[in-house]
Amino acid sequence: MKECVVIDGVRSANTRAHKDKGWFRNLRPDGLLIQVYKALFERNPKVRPEEVEAVFCGSANQAGMQNDIARLSWLAGGFPESVASNGINQQCPSGMSATEHAARAIMCGEGDIYIASGVEDMEKVPMGFAMDFPPKFMERYNLMDIPMGNTAEKVAELWNISREDAEQMAFWSHKKAAAARDAGKFSNEIVPIEGEKEDGTKFMVTNDQWIREDISLEQMAGMKTPFKENGVVSAAASSPLTAGAAALLLMSRGKADELGLDYHIKYAGGAMAGCDPTVMGVGPIYAARKLLKRAGLTVKDIGVWELNEAFGSQALACLRELEIARNAPFDNVNVWGGALALGHPLGESGCRIIVTLNNIMKTDFKDAKYGVAMLCGGFGNGNATLWQQVEK
Ligand SMILES: CC(C)(COP(=O)(O)OP(=O)(O)OC[C@H]1O[C@@H](n2cnc3c(N)ncnc32)[C@H](O)[C@@H]1OP(=O)(O)O)[C@@H](O)C(=O)NCCC(=O)NCCS
Repeated sequence: MKECVVIDGVRSANTRAHKDKGWFRNLRPDGLLIQVYKALFERNPKVRPEEVEAVFCGSANQAGMQNDIARLSWLAGGFPESVASNGINQQCPSGMSATEHAARAIMCGEGDIYIASGVEDMEKVPMGFAMDFPPKFMERYNLMDIPMGNTAEKVAELWNISREDAEQMAFWSHKKAAAARDAGKFSNEIVPIEGEKEDGTKFMVTNDQWIREDISLEQMAGMKTPFKENGVVSAAASSPLTAGAAALLLMSRGKADELGLDYHIKYAGGAMAGCDPTVMGVGPIYAARKLLKRAGLTVKDIGVWELNEAFGSQALACLRELEIARNAPFDNVNVWGGALALGHPLGESGCRIIVTLNNIMKTDFKDAKYGVAMLCGGFGNGNATLWQQVEK
């Protein structure tokens, strides 16, 4: 099999998905995606769009402005009609699934150059938009147990995650994200895109909008729990509604060498696992176990982890069950902050955490031989991907 290496990864800033307050409120999700695709080609002039074998794009709610967003954005961006585009929907893991599809195609020798991407604007296409559940699904499950926040409450109860611990995780997520932003860690991945401040002033958005400067454990402790009366999951311990796009340029190692392109990590495997949709947040436990077992590795072999923080409760349940960590702050998990602070534009996040992991393994964790990126998905899916430093 061929080797699949990461040539580059970019993303938009993650902004608030809000019709009055979101910095990208006047930009459509296809507009965001086109800008990250263009940035990939501008940064890598040796790669011509017509040489791309195919473009995979994940999006969790493929309706309205996100209906077949993979193909429509590619064409709307003026890219060659001869390059195929494939929309992927696996709820939140969509962007990771897109990456796995591209990596597998490269390894099988179907093509040498692929783009894997993800996009979501949770204001333009809200969660559950135009959803029509199969009647048999509704017979099998109580629909009240299916909304994401409700599953986060159930995970907190079953895995015994306290409100304090989940909020501590949110606190550190914001602290680490702010420190990473202030140290310029995201400058290699965020593509500046014009947005608008709340007062309408136009500006180039280069930072994630949700990172809170004023994060306080006392304030969080007093917040409402919208998903359950006297519950434990507040807005602070939930990933917020977000807009964003991310993309990776993946290539066979042979093609990268032929073009004289630099790379430092390769795809070393992926695993998907299903679980009970009413506790969908623990999906990464099962996916990571499969991934590590197949690779002949243990948790201790993984130098650095990116785990999407859909909710504090589910992320902590995964970290504890896998015996990666017990409580924030963590040494080698989400070291530049997680989705509680950076936001979680559903279908984008699985790709975004690989973009960030690529940069983390290039800089702060260059001695880590392996990194894992993993996330949970609505209706009971978990995905995990293994990335390995390339020996040259
Ligand atoms: C939790 C949730 C319902 C809250 O939504 P909302 O009521 O629209 O709330 P917002 O996120 O806009 O936040 C409400 C207010 O609380 C504030 N807030 C959020 N976190 C805060 C914190 N840590 N400290 C203080 N205030 C905070 C917000 O800034 C906002 O106030 P503002 O408008 O004055 O800025 C929503 O974020 C949600 O559904 N999240 C989960 C999304 C999801 O399911 N994703 C999929 C995961 S699998």
